[in-house]
Amino acid sequence: MRAVVLVGGFGTRLRPLTLHSPKPMLPVGHRPMIERLVDRLARGGVTDVVLALGFKPEPFMEAFPDGKCGDVNLTYAVEPEPLDTGGAIRFAAESVGINETFVVANGDVLTDLSVADLLAAHHSRMAEATMHLTGVDDPSAFGVVALEGAADGGIDRIVDFVEKPEPGAEPSNLVNAGTYVFEPSVLGLIAAGKRVSIERSIFPMLVERGGLYGFSTDDYWIDAGQPELYRAANLDLLSDRRVFDRCAAIAPTAVVSSSAMITNSIIGDNVEVGDDAEVVDSVLLAGARVGAGARIRASLVMGAVGAAAEVIGSMVGAEGVVPAGSRLIDGALPDPAAV
Ligand code: GTP
Repeated sequence: MRAVVLVGGFGTRLRPLTLHSPKPMLPVGHRPMIERLVDRLARGGVTDVVLALGFKPEPFMEAFPDGKCGDVNLTYAVEPEPLDTGGAIRFAAESVGINETFVVANGDVLTDLSVADLLAAHHSRMAEATMHLTGVDDPSAFGVVALEGAADGGIDRIVDFVEKPEPGAEPSNLVNAGTYVFEPSVLGLIAAGKRVSIERSIFPMLVERGGLYGFSTDDYWIDAGQPELYRAANLDLLSDRRVFDRCAAIAPTAVVSSSAMITNSIIGDNVEVGDDAEVVDSVLLAGARVGAGARIRASLVMGAVGAAAEVIGSMVGAEGVVPAGSRLIDGALPDPAAV
């Protein structure tokens, strides 16, 4: 089984963390997000993945130089210019000659969905396209569906698909969870070489044809494209929320002072944490440096935090330096707007 994985977005919401690293290469529980995603696809029977790339292909090629991620064969489809989600799927699928049922996944979704179950549901209804659906409290930020029958789990025909509806106008609380099974006929609906949004242009067309189905599950699911959710995706690996994945809080290569206090946090490779520092509900990404007596809370840190500095609800990118003794509250360094 082949899959197209969309990894060519700009990741603007995670700036400054994504200024030097594409979003799917950011770690979740010490491993690049994309590796966890490819593992999940492999568990569901996927053997070959095409990475649909636009922005910054090099870090992917360097991370997987032999074209393998675990046992899965990787191919790279690099768009000449960003083609948006639909254009990217067509470009990537054509680049490897896909002409049979295939899987598509957004590169920033972390879920315990069984792709094998999604495929079985798709075939059971002879669907043209099947979308994984998940229930959320505030659907207005997502693509929201209306189903033909009662929304009681399993597979059903989608009779309406609205991308980011006005709050209050959502047809249900079931949203596009970013993993799909497509028949090759879907590719014919996407104009070649053009910017096409699969969500805004193609799903409504598939609804019109009666060929779009939704498979709803209550599996763990998170779209890690926003800072709060990226942090949660990491910290969830410390709890028992995940079925398949867990991780150690502190990477073996990290150097953490014995007087530092680490609470519900992930400390990545080669991170240094000084004496009496306090780190709570945070992720220190590989190479971060935290000075003595610094306090970090609910933050994501790649760069340096000086001694006795305080960082709360903030993101510090690879080149960010929080001066000793200063405070950064709900901020981002370097300021993405100024870079
Ligand atoms: P933001 O800039 O923060 O909105 O992130 P994003 O650009 O990644 O956008 P979004 O999360 O909406 O994209 C959903 C998925 O599609 C992600 O996995 C992106 O990597 C991917 N994606 C978005 N646009 C493109 C594109 O033009 N080409 C390719 N290959 N992938 C894309």
